[in-house]
Amino acid sequence: MDEKFIRRIEDSFSLLAPRGEELVDRFYANLFARNPELRPLFPPDMKNQKGKLLASLVLVVKNLRKPETLRSALLDLGARHEEIGTRHEHYPVVRDTLLDVMGQIAGDDWSNQLNSDWAAALDFVGSVMIEGQKAAAISPSAN
Ligand code: HEM
Repeated sequence: MDEKFIRRIEDSFSLLAPRGEELVDRFYANLFARNPELRPLFPPDMKNQKGKLLASLVLVVKNLRKPETLRSALLDLGARHEEIGTRHEHYPVVRDTLLDVMGQIAGDDWSNQLNSDWAAALDFVGSVMIEGQKAAAISPSAN
C-alpha cells in the first residue's frame, strides 16, 4: 500500500465518516434488498451490528499504516465470521454493496479512482478475513 493510496482512502473516509450512520443504514438496506437470503444470518435488531460495521471500517482506515495490527484484527474478525457461517463468496457481495453506497453518500466527490482504491482496500480486508476464516475452520476455537 503506497502513501498516495493510503492518503486517498483516509481523505475520502473523512467525507464518509460524518455520515457513517446513514452509510451503514443504506448498506444493510441494500444488502438485504439484493440478497434476501442473507437477512436470517443477522439478528432481528440491527442497531448494534450497524455500529460494529462502522467501527470496523474506522479501524481499517486508522490502521492502514500499521499493517501488522490491521492484519491481526482482520484475522480475528475473519475467525468470528467462520463461527457465524459467512461464506467466502459473500465477500464480493458485501464489497460491491459498500462501494455503491459509498458512492451514493460521497456524491460528486466520488470518482473512478476512489472506487478502485476502495475496491482494492475491501479486497484486502476480505482476503485477510478469509484467511482468518480458513485458520478457524482448521482449528475451531473452544468457545
Ligand atoms: C468487509 C468485510 C466485513 C466486515 C468489515 C465485517 C464486519 C463485521 C463485524 C465488525 C461484525 C461484528 C463481530 C462481533 O460481534 O464480534 C460482523 C458480524 C457479522 N457479519 Fe460481518 N463483516 C464483513 C463481511 C461479512 C460478510 C461477507 C458477511 C456475509 C453475509 C457478513 C455477515 C456477518 C454476520 C451474519 C454477522 C453477525 C451478526 C450477529 O449475529 O450479531 N460479514 N461483521
